[in-house]
Amino acid sequence: MKHVFQDLPMEMAEMNPFARFGLDWALLVTEKDGKTNGMTIAWGGMGVMWDKNVAYVFVRGSRYTKELLDSTETFSVNFFGGKEKNALKYFGKVSGRDEDKFANVGFGVDYHKGIAFADESNFVVVCKTLSCTKIEPDGILDPTILSQFYPKGDFHYMYVGEIVEFLAR
Ligand SMILES: Cc1cc2nc3c(=O)[nH]c(=O)nc-3n(C[C@H](O)[C@H](O)[C@H](O)COP(=O)(O)O)c2cc1C
Repeated sequence: MKHVFQDLPMEMAEMNPFARFGLDWALLVTEKDGKTNGMTIAWGGMGVMWDKNVAYVFVRGSRYTKELLDSTETFSVNFFGGKEKNALKYFGKVSGRDEDKFANVGFGVDYHKGIAFADESNFVVVCKTLSCTKIEPDGILDPTILSQFYPKGDFHYMYVGEIVEFLAR
C-alpha cells in the first residue's frame, strides 16, 4: 500500500542538514522515460539562492544519475530518518546503468506534480532543476581536496534545484 504524504509549508520544515545528509544519507531520485533511478548521496544542502528556496546536490560526472539529471528538469531528495541503510548502501554501490535498483530493493515510486520519489522515504524535497555547474579544479583553493577527492579527475557537478514542495509522511 502506498504511504500518504502531506505538503509541509517551507517555513515549518525543520531539518538539520549535517545529520540528515551526512549521517542518515539521502536518495537522489531521477526518472527518464518512465524508468526511475536512485543514487545515495551524503553531500548536499538547502538554502536560498536567486530569491528562491533551493536544494543543492553534488554528482560526479561518471554517475548514471548525471545523465538522467541532464535529460530531465526535475529531481527529488528523499530522506529516511536514519532507516533503510542497507538499501542506501546498495543504491550507493550499484549503477542504474546495470540494474533496476528500485525493483531490486522493492521500493515503490510515487509522484508529486509528476516528479518521482520513493514511497519508503519519510521526508521528500521535490525540486525543479535551475542550474548545473561543474566543480572546476581551478576554483579549488585547498590542494588536499584535489588529491583526496579527485585523483582520477572525476569532478562533481553542483545541481541547484528550486524546491517545489516539502512532503512529509
Ligand atoms: C553513503 C554514500 C554517499 C554517497 N554520496 C555521493 C554524492 O554525494 N555524490 C556522488 O556523486 N556520489 C555519491 N555516492 C556514490 C553513488 O551513490 C554511487 O556511485 C552510485 O552507484 C551511483 O549510481 P548511478 O550510477 O545509478 O547514478 C555515495 C555513496 C554512498 C554509499
